[in-house]
Amino acid sequence: MSQRISLTQYLIEQQREHGSIPQELRLLIEVVARACKRIAISVNKGALGDVLGTAGSENIQGEVQKKLDIIANEVLIEANEWGGHLAAMASEEMEAIHLVPNRYPKGEYLLMFDPLDGSSNIDVNVSIGTIFSVLKKAEGHKGVSEDDFLQPGSSQVAAGYCVYGPQTTLTLSFGNGVSMFTLDREQGSFVLTAENVRIPVDTQEFAINMSNQRHWDTPMQRYIDECLAGVTGPRAKDFNMRWIASMVADVHRILTRGGIFIYPWDKREPHRAGKLRLLYEANPLSFLVEQAGGAATNGRQRILDLQPTQLHERVAVMLGSKHEVERVTAYHLQAE
Ligand code: AHG
Ligand code: MN
Ligand code: MN
Repeated sequence: MSQRISLTQYLIEQQREHGSIPQELRLLIEVVARACKRIAISVNKGALGDVLGTAGSENIQGEVQKKLDIIANEVLIEANEWGGHLAAMASEEMEAIHLVPNRYPKGEYLLMFDPLDGSSNIDVNVSIGTIFSVLKKAEGHKGVSEDDFLQPGSSQVAAGYCVYGPQTTLTLSFGNGVSMFTLDREQGSFVLTAENVRIPVDTQEFAINMSNQRHWDTPMQRYIDECLAGVTGPRAKDFNMRWIASMVADVHRILTRGGIFIYPWDKREPHRAGKLRLLYEANPLSFLVEQAGGAATNGRQRILDLQPTQLHERVAVMLGSKHEVERVTAYHLQAE
C-alpha cells in the first residue's frame, strides 16, 4: 500500500463513499482506538510501569483479575463515557452494565468489551488484546437496562479488536468486510495496512487446548483424532497446531493465514456451555470471521444467531476456515 491512510481518513472516506458509518459511530470507533493506544502504552511499559501481576480481586466469573485487566477496563470507560455517543457499556470485568453518568449527554449505541484478552499471557510478554462489540439500543423506550444488551450477534453494527504484540494492530468491521490497521508509534496513529481480509476456506492448522482432550465429547474427540492421524488418516493430510492462549491473537492469525480455533464444551462442568463469553469474545470475533468469509458456530448453531439470555453468558466456540468449521459442526449434529 503506497499511500498511507490513517484510521480517521478511512472512517471519513467510508462514511462519504458508502454512507455506512454514521457520525456518532465514527466517533465511537475513534474513541475506542484512542483508548487502545493508551492501553498499548501501559502494556509496553510492563514491569517498568508496575502494571504486571494480580490486582488481588476477582471478577464476576470468579477469575483472578490482573492489574492490566483493571487498567484496560478503566481506560475504556473513561474514554467513552463523556463523548455523547453511548447509552451504556458492559464489560467482562464488571458485574453490572455501566450507565453513562447523568452529567454527560447520552447516545444510542451500546459498547461491550473484553478489556484485556489473554490475561494469563500478560506477565510472560506474549500477545494480548482488547475485543469490542457495538450494538444499537432498540428504539422506543427511554433509559437503558441489561436487556438492551441481549441482542443476537447478527445485530452488531461494528466489532473489532486490538492486538498488543510485536506490532499493535487494530482490526475492524462495520458489516462490510474487514480492514486492519497498524499503529505507527512515531505518528501516534493507526494506519490502514490490509483491506478486504479473507480467510482461506481450507486449512491444515488448528488451535485448541489439547490438555483438555479427555474431557471433550465424542464429536470433538473425533474431529481432533482425525486431524492428528495426518496424511495416512481419514483426512489424508498433516495438520499443524498453534495455541497462544489469547483468543484474540489466535483469531488474528486465522484472519491473516487461515486456521480453525476451538474452545469446546467439556465434561468437567456440564452445565457450562463453554469457557468463552458470548457478548465480549464470541460475538465480536465471529462477526469479524464471517465478514472475512469464515464461519463460526457453537458446534450446532451459528454463533451470531444465538439469543443471549444473560450478560455474562458463556458459549462453546468453533470458528475460522469455513470448510473445517462446517466439518466439526456436522460431526456434532450427526451425533445427536
Ligand atoms: P481472558 O483473559 O479474557 O479471561 O480470556 C482468556 C481466554 C481466551 O483468550 C483464551 O483462548 C483462553 O481463555 C485460554 O484458555 P486456556 O487457559 O484453557 O488455554
Ligand atoms: Mn478474554
Ligand atoms: Mn479479559
